[in-house]
Amino acid sequence: LGIKIKYVQEVGSTQTLAAELVKKGAEEGTVVIAEQQTEGRGRLGRKWFSPAGTGIWMSLILKPQIPLQFIHQLTLLISVAVCRVLKRMLNIDVGIKWPNDLYVGGKKVCGILLESSAEDERLKHVIAGIGISVNLKQEDIPEELKDKMTSLYVETGEQINREELFVLLFKELEELYHIYLSEGFAPIRILWEALAICLDCPIQVHTHQGTIQGRAYGMDEMGALMITDEEGNEHKIYSGDVSLNLV
Ligand code: BTN
Repeated sequence: LGIKIKYVQEVGSTQTLAAELVKKGAEEGTVVIAEQQTEGRGRLGRKWFSPAGTGIWMSLILKPQIPLQFIHQLTLLISVAVCRVLKRMLNIDVGIKWPNDLYVGGKKVCGILLESSAEDERLKHVIAGIGISVNLKQEDIPEELKDKMTSLYVETGEQINREELFVLLFKELEELYHIYLSEGFAPIRILWEALAICLDCPIQVHTHQGTIQGRAYGMDEMGALMITDEEGNEHKIYSGDVSLNLV
């Protein structure tokens, strides 16, 4: 990817800054990293808590020659990359909640947000936003998020070197991206299935068409989550949001 880094102390959202860089002709592989975001964005219009010096708040510009309808495969690829690096570096039990949240001990530690532009159903560029809560302390987590989110520090009890994590992550992203561009989605799918936490447990999937109750049993070759609902009907879902019925 030939990394080019734009490092800023504070920004509204690294996604917005990355989009401005794209307009100015930024190349594939350009990364925007901020110490702090004041308007960090999450999926589905949510806010993303991004306080100073505690996380990896980054946006990576990619320009893959793939159809727009394959974009969710990139999301899955990125979640696999982050998950593998966290496992390898910290030896923690982290898994992927479909489509792309990383969970440790039932709480979210990383979120991924892809924003793209396309022309004639082909992608022009993708801005892949990755937010990892790294050195946030328990007392720094807002009360309303305490049940839902955690940080790597809270889970491991150790301060984590963010530079080291970033370097490993970028290397992993680069490797998986090359594999994806040369071999397609099949190898990524195998890695994703091995890291998924929602396979074969009861889930609810919220989609544009409504909510499906059932069990996810795998991912198809295109990257759709395969679900059997309570009546035994099969569904293939490309995008949505999952609630795990964790008891
Ligand atoms: C989600 O789980 O809802 C996605 C969260 C994505 C957060 C990252 S942090 C870096 C980048 N800039 C943003 O404003 N959002 C993404």
